[in-house]
Amino acid sequence: MKDKIEQVKKDFAEDTKAVNNLELLENLRIKFFSRNGIFAQLFEDFKVLPKEEKPLYGKVLNEEKNSAQNIFDELKIKIESNSKEEKDNTDLTLPGRSNKIGALHVLTQTLDEIKSIFKGLGFSIYTGPELESDENNFEMLNFPDDHPARDMQDTYFINDSFLLRTHTSPVQVRLMKSSKPPFRAIMPGRVYRNEAISAKSYCLFHQVEGLVIDTNVTFAELKGTLVYFAKQLFGEDVKYRFRASFFPFTEPSAEVDIWWQPQGKEGKWLEILGCGMVDPNVLTNLNIDPEKYIGYAFGMGIERMAMLKYGIDDIRLFFDNDKRFLNQFK
Ligand code: PHE
Repeated sequence: MKDKIEQVKKDFAEDTKAVNNLELLENLRIKFFSRNGIFAQLFEDFKVLPKEEKPLYGKVLNEEKNSAQNIFDELKIKIESNSKEEKDNTDLTLPGRSNKIGALHVLTQTLDEIKSIFKGLGFSIYTGPELESDENNFEMLNFPDDHPARDMQDTYFINDSFLLRTHTSPVQVRLMKSSKPPFRAIMPGRVYRNEAISAKSYCLFHQVEGLVIDTNVTFAELKGTLVYFAKQLFGEDVKYRFRASFFPFTEPSAEVDIWWQPQGKEGKWLEILGCGMVDPNVLTNLNIDPEKYIGYAFGMGIERMAMLKYGIDDIRLFFDNDKRFLNQFK
């Protein structure tokens, strides 16, 4: 009996190797597991064993059969799933699956447009970090300690000397520290202000800074550049005005407003950017000779530009990642 069981075990292992389709699998089943199959015969042989041998072989026989059955079941699953895959793959006329491609965020699109307008005017692009020193963000820009001008911007301080930059103007400082004029660059980036969140203001937003320094720069050039920019972004007919203003790092300073009148609503002037001639104190702070060089600078909020351009009335929409909003700018 023992030899017989061993032989069946070997035969089963040998036969299994060749089974690779449903037909051979069925043959294997009939040969070993059917009513007249090899295992059934073994159990017949077992029945007529002398009484004292039965406990010994009963256990072995059951174990062998179960293990063979398990191997058979696994083989069955494998062969069935293979043959299913083959069937699925055969329809070559099915159209392909399309990839879902994302779109650029409306702020990125607006920034790209701003960049391309200034690139056309010969500006290069320069960037700086969002974590800034107090020195670059305020001091070098002519905001002395305790000067009330610091209250213009509510700052997130990291410690006494570092903060999340409140504007992109410190990138001007970095540019002036790291290389020599002439400069003609724009500096886009994210800025932070500790303000109450509302439809109009958020704790972070994006700005584009501009800086031109050369030996023969004029306020007229600053005006011409910004008017050209406004017309490119908002259309040739845009109505604009320059209004005197104050920034510690420019003198004289101005703000530019455009006339804004959504359909069916009353029109009003809306500020789009701040600008001015670089204050000689700033040049001196950065070892640039104010007798030789003169410059202008400007800074604008990208969210503000996008809100005006697309008629968006809540700044929080840019940061919510609501697909119903984002999909409108695909
Ligand atoms: N940094 C100023 C602001 O954030 C904008 C500005 C930039 C004004 C450059 C003048 C010159 O409000």
